[in-house]
Formats: sequence, C-alpha cells, structure tokens
Amino acid sequence: MYRSKSCGELRLANAGEGVTLAGWVQRTRKMGGMTFVDLRDRYGITQLVFNESNDAELCARANKLGREFCIQASGTVSERQSKNPNMPTGDIEIIVKELNILSPSATPPFTIEDNTDGGDDLRMKYRYLDLRRPSVRQNLELRHRMTILIRNFLDSRDFIEVETPILVGSTPEGARDFVVPSRMNPGQFYALPQSPQTLKQLLMVSGFDRYFQIAKCFRDEDLRADRQPEFTQIDCEMSFVEQEDVIEVFEGLARHLFKEVRGVELPEKLQQMTWHDAMRLYGSDKPDLRFGMTFVELMDELKGTSDFAVFNDAAYIGGICAPGCADYSRKQLDQLTNFVKSQQVGAKGLVYIKVNADGTIKSSIDKFFTAEQLHKVADKMDAKPGDLILILSGDNANKTRVQLCSLRLEMGEQLGLRDKNKFECLWIVDFPLFEWSDEEQRLMATHHPFTMPNPDDIPLLEEHPERVRAKAYDFVCNGIEVGGGSLRIHDSELQEKMFGILGFTQERAEAQFGFLMNAFKYGAPPHGGLAFGLDRFVSIMAGLDSIRDCIAFPKNNSGRDVMLDAPSSLEPGQLEELFLKIDEERVNATK
Ligand code: AMO
Repeated sequence: MYRSKSCGELRLANAGEGVTLAGWVQRTRKMGGMTFVDLRDRYGITQLVFNESNDAELCARANKLGREFCIQASGTVSERQSKNPNMPTGDIEIIVKELNILSPSATPPFTIEDNTDGGDDLRMKYRYLDLRRPSVRQNLELRHRMTILIRNFLDSRDFIEVETPILVGSTPEGARDFVVPSRMNPGQFYALPQSPQTLKQLLMVSGFDRYFQIAKCFRDEDLRADRQPEFTQIDCEMSFVEQEDVIEVFEGLARHLFKEVRGVELPEKLQQMTWHDAMRLYGSDKPDLRFGMTFVELMDELKGTSDFAVFNDAAYIGGICAPGCADYSRKQLDQLTNFVKSQQVGAKGLVYIKVNADGTIKSSIDKFFTAEQLHKVADKMDAKPGDLILILSGDNANKTRVQLCSLRLEMGEQLGLRDKNKFECLWIVDFPLFEWSDEEQRLMATHHPFTMPNPDDIPLLEEHPERVRAKAYDFVCNGIEVGGGSLRIHDSELQEKMFGILGFTQERAEAQFGFLMNAFKYGAPPHGGLAFGLDRFVSIMAGLDSIRDCIAFPKNNSGRDVMLDAPSSLEPGQLEELFLKIDEERVNATK
C-alpha cells in the first residue's frame, strides 16, 4: 500500500492515527532541530515533521529532500502547535517515522505554485509540471465535472452519445482542413473533422432522434485566446424540432451548468436578440451585456449639419456614452484616441463630448458645432452631467460599428464593468444566411451550407440572397460565442440550390456532399442542432482569459505543441511511403 490517506483529508479528529501519505515535496524548512516538509498531492498539502532529537538519521535524510521529490512518509497525525487557518489541513501535522524516496526530482524549471515564476513558453514546454500547479489542475477538474454534468443532463433527456470518425472527408465550417495522407490510397488525403456536422445529420436520417458527442474538432485557422486548432465541442442534433425546441433544451443545459458549477441562476427565459439589433446596438454578433453603453446613431444630428468634413463624408456616425467619465484628462483622451487609431482597431480618429458636472459642454468639435447642436447630441444619447460621449465615424458602416464595439469593450474594461463573476447570456437569432467574402469574392454561408433559410425569406434566395435570414442561433455569454447551431435543410433540392448559390458546381457538390444529398432522398426527418465549445464554456465558468488554461496539452499561438515539438518533419522513408515530396525551396522561403 503506497498510502492510506491523501494529503488533503486529515483533520484534528484524526489526531493519534497512524497514516501513510505519498506525494511531492512542495518545500522544506529547517528550524532548529526540526525539519518541516509540505507534502502535496492532487487533494491538498499536509505538513510533515521530522525531529532531530527523535531520529537524527531520518531527519538528515529529510534535509536532503529537494523540491518535487516524489516521496512516501508514514507517521502519526498530531495536533499542530501553531495552526495554519489558511490550510484545510492546517490544524495537524504528521510526526514522521518512516521516509521513502520514490523518485528524486531535478530542480524544476519554475516554482510549482499558483504564483509561479515561470513564463508562458517555459510552462508550455514543461506542461506536465505546470499541471501540478493547483490552479491549472483545478481548471481540468472543473472541465471533468462539467463533462459529467453534460453527459448526465443529455442522457436524462434521451440523447445518445455516438462517436463519429476522426479520419473523414472535408466538412466545411469556414476554416481550412487539417489533412492526413493515406498510405493505402496513394495521393489521397483524409481531412480531420472541423465538426461532426454532416455525420450527425446522417444519424438523424438513421433515426437516432437525439444525438450528442463530446467531440474533438480540428480547424486550421489563425489562433486567438479563444481559439485552438484542436478543440472540443458538445455536439448535439435533434429530429422533429423547431428552433425554439432546440433553444429550450440547450438553454436548459446552460442553466443546469451555471447552477451546479457556479450557483448562478440564469433567468427563466434568456433574451433573444436579432443579429441586426446586435450589430446596430453593439457592433458585434456576440455582445457583452454585462454593461450598457449601447450605440446611438448620430447621422441626423451630425452629418451635413456643419463644415466638419469627416462627418459629412461618413456612412455611419455613432457614439457611446461613458458614465462618469467627463473628468477624463487630456492624456486619457489621447490614449483612447491612440487606441482607436491602433492597427488592431483601425479608426481614423475619435471625437468626444464632455457633459460637465455643471451641465456645460466641452468637445473636440466645438469649432464646428454650436453648443445647441452638441446639447442635442447629449440629449439623444441620454447623457447625464459627468458623462463622456465618444463618437466614431467612417465610410463603411459595418467596419465603423466594429471599431465602436472595440471602444465600448475598452471602456467597459477601464470602468471595471466586465466582472468575471457576473454572467450575461443571450441568444443571437436571425443571422443572415450568407455573408460576402472579400477574400473569396463570393457569398459564403454565415454558419454552414446546411443551415435552413427562414421559410419566409425563401422567395428571396435567388434575387436577394443577402437579405435571406437563417434559422440559426448562437449562444453568447459575456461577449463570447459559446455555442452555435441551426435548423438544417432536409430537402435535397433546397440543399442543391444552396450549394449553387454558394458557387459550388454540381460536380463539386456531388463529389463533396453527394452522400448527404443522397441520404436526404430516404425520408430525412426535419432536424436541427447546436454545438457548444466545451473549452470556451469551461473557461468562462473558471474566469480564464484563455481557453488554453483549461486544456491539458494546448498548442501555442503558432499552433505548435512545444512540449512534443509537433508538428515536425517526417523521415525521408515515411514521405516516400506516402508518395509525398517536400518543396524545400518554398519551405525555406517561409523561414
Ligand atoms: P461553430 O463553428 O459555430 O458551429 O462551432 C461551435 C462552437 O465551437 C466553438 N469553437 C471553437 N472553440 C475553440 N477553438 C476553435 N478554433 C473553435 N471554433 C469553434 C465555439 C463555437 O460556438 N457544426 C456547427 C454546429 C451546429 O450547427 O450544430 C459548428 O461547428 O464555442
């Protein structure tokens, strides 16, 4: 028996018991003739005591223990002289009689503590040590707990977990595929699934009725704090459902998780905001509703009403009202101007109107507008004395709204309104079915090509596809898209029409999705579903800044696993076996 108890469970009531513990040395302290060792395992930390006057040889061995040695110690639980109220085991210590070094440790490259001295790169390289830190471990424990809650919830509602393959053909979700060469099929490649989208739809054709999967998905796209190339979805699909049926089930799941994990009661019914309103009021399809500062359009008030050319040329002028910020200094306003002009935001400049405490107005456009005109703006924005109005304008309305969104979030941050312990969830509905891609110079599916158009808008499909709304919905929490889904097309003719609008030739649609359209010929039920991003859900619950922190072995921003040193080159023999040749010249050109 390696241990009789864990390092987190002994209390005063255990005093006098003989126990054996095993774990890692957090730290050692020598005080007079005594040596104290903090022993850590997954469950906590317990203090071991070695007394020179009891057993000098044992104490000498304890003095040689280094950080992160893996040891086993047996002894008696004893009440501590000086208790530590900050530790659950702080009332007791173990008077050690036997010590075994199970495995010595090299000096760890960073301290294994929540406040570690290790930088990001070092911790990624030694991720197995980073995972010993309680804060990181707790994130994975939370992830485990959420996964169990999700499985039980969905099981209780008749969902069946089905595994779908990882080696598949392309499933377009708007990102690039990761591909795997096939040795047995020379010159051909599998794609790793961007999501199990088409397969779960086939399961509906098979009559599974309610499917779910905690599914690994792979997307070759630029990485951000909330994006990894390999991530996990809570992927679900249901048959014989309308949009509201799907929303009800997954709102129920979200409510259950928030209650169980955070003790937070979500409202009885979550708000549903149209995509159009979200863009108009927040400049984003994932608005952060933890604070107000909604956009107010100011075209009537500011365009063509002065000599200020910037506004007169604008396609959009909009403002937000930052409460209590009229006392922002010149320096603070300059910093905000630099922020909006930064590459990351891309605005041309920032206009401000201060509504002073005495009701007078001070503005960066005083020269161009009368006090009366500026008061009108303040009234429209419902600004109170002491408030600061911030205005952006631009020749592209959508782009300007997105810039104003960045400014709104920045102000929310500065004013401490983005509280990680507050949760504001909502659904965004009525997405446009298509969006124009400047890069590809064609219409793309906003969600994916299988999404059902709003039946009211089907007559517009050919003439005005850009005006067609989708039966699609996103679940948004605190400004993060946590999940998304849609009702699906279950009619092969409509699906073919969609592929046509998306610019697929019939041959390409047939080659890529023939299996799906064929399946729809055999009594496909109406169906729809949704996928939550598990990594994002866990990181919101844990208040993390990046989903990396709730993934055991994440990739860095260049998509590398620095611990495994992957991706890496193949041996010439492997390449040959796969009928592959590397274009060294082009590879070198990227270096
Ligand atoms: P979608 O592409 O919206 O929908 O993805 C669903 C959810 O998956 C999460 N997610 C990611 N998480 C981490 N890293 C990424 N790179 C990443 N990409 C997406 C997000 C997102 O909301 N098949 C559809 C779902 C459906 O229609 O049923 C789909 O994949 O939280």
